[in-house]
Parts: sequence; structure tokens; C-alpha cells
Amino acid sequence: MTSASDAPQARALGEQQALDEHETPDEHAISLHVNGQPFSASVEPRLTLADFLRERLNLTGTHLGCEHGVCGACTVLLEGAPVRACLMFAVQADGAQLTTVEGLADGERLSTLQQSFQAHHALQCGFCTPGILTTAHAFLKTNPSPTPDEVRHALSGNLCRCTGYIPIVEAVLDAAAIMRTTGVADG
Ligand code: FES
Ligand code: FES
Repeated sequence: MTSASDAPQARALGEQQALDEHETPDEHAISLHVNGQPFSASVEPRLTLADFLRERLNLTGTHLGCEHGVCGACTVLLEGAPVRACLMFAVQADGAQLTTVEGLADGERLSTLQQSFQAHHALQCGFCTPGILTTAHAFLKTNPSPTPDEVRHALSGNLCRCTGYIPIVEAVLDAAAIMRTTGVADG
């Protein structure tokens, strides 16, 4: 996976001066944290958050399916809450703390939720998986002991075209059980 710091068009804080010199009248300077790392960039107002993450920060784990707020593939966490990155502009994330699917793991070590998806084979093509993981991650923080129906409701805004919903729900329930047993929550 390419590191966000390798992205050609975004710069870590500290290089703000160089960025501002390239800012055009039609662009806005933004600063934000993504997966705990600070970034600043100059962006056109029309640039969506999803395109900013994918094209400017090279965080391509955030997927684009419908691009109009229906499928949930682009779900990222804004201050810990799930948002559709295809429906937000990058300028709206100025000053925010964002978490993408790349931020759920601890380096090479997958989160409990991710390990549970792996154990339950809770993906087929995997296109929906980043959005489902970010949604479920936030959900389990608010409801650490969910029922199967509550998991299904929480994930009802995330469409899986491979229709792998049964193992997905089982993976979320199992991850919740493991986190309750160990007392260690993801991230
Ligand atoms: S790509 Fe954003 S909801 Fe489908
Ligand atoms: S695993 Fe293919 S879209 Fe969900």
C-alpha cells in the first residue's frame, strides 16, 4: 500500500508555505488530519472528499460506487461518525479529524473487526468492505453488545453487490463478542 505521505499533490504540515504559493484564486487551502497524520493542501471547491482522499492522498481504500450517497462504499469517519465521502467536498473537511479504512489497522496488524471479517470470509469482491468496516467500527463504539437485527440495521446503508450479508453480520457480532471478552476496543 502506498503511504499517504507519498502522495504527490499533498504535503505534510510544515510545507504550508510551498502549497500556498501554488494556490490559485479558485482554490482553497485546507488543513486536516487523516488517520492521525496532518495534511494541508490547496483544493478546488468542487473537489469531493472522496476524490481528495483517493487522488490527492492516494488513500484508495475509500471506494466509489454510486457517487450519489446510496451505496456506502465511500464511507469514512469524520470526528468518528460515518459520512459519505462522495457527498462532501474536501473544503468541508477543513480542520477535521478523518479516519479512512487504512486507519483502522495498527500498521500491519489488522483490527479485531478486520480479523473477524477475514475469519468469517465476510467479503467476496471486497468492493463494499471498506465502507462496511468503517460503518461497523463506528457502530460498535456506540453499541458494543448489538443484536443481529441491530447490526443489520446499522449496515442497512451499505450495499454489498455480492450479497454476502450473512457472514458480514456474523463477523461484526463475533468482533463485538471478542472485544467484550478482551475488553479491548478497536482504535
Ligand atoms: S459512492 Fe458514496 S454512497 Fe456510493
Ligand atoms: S463483497 Fe462484493 S460488493 Fe460486497
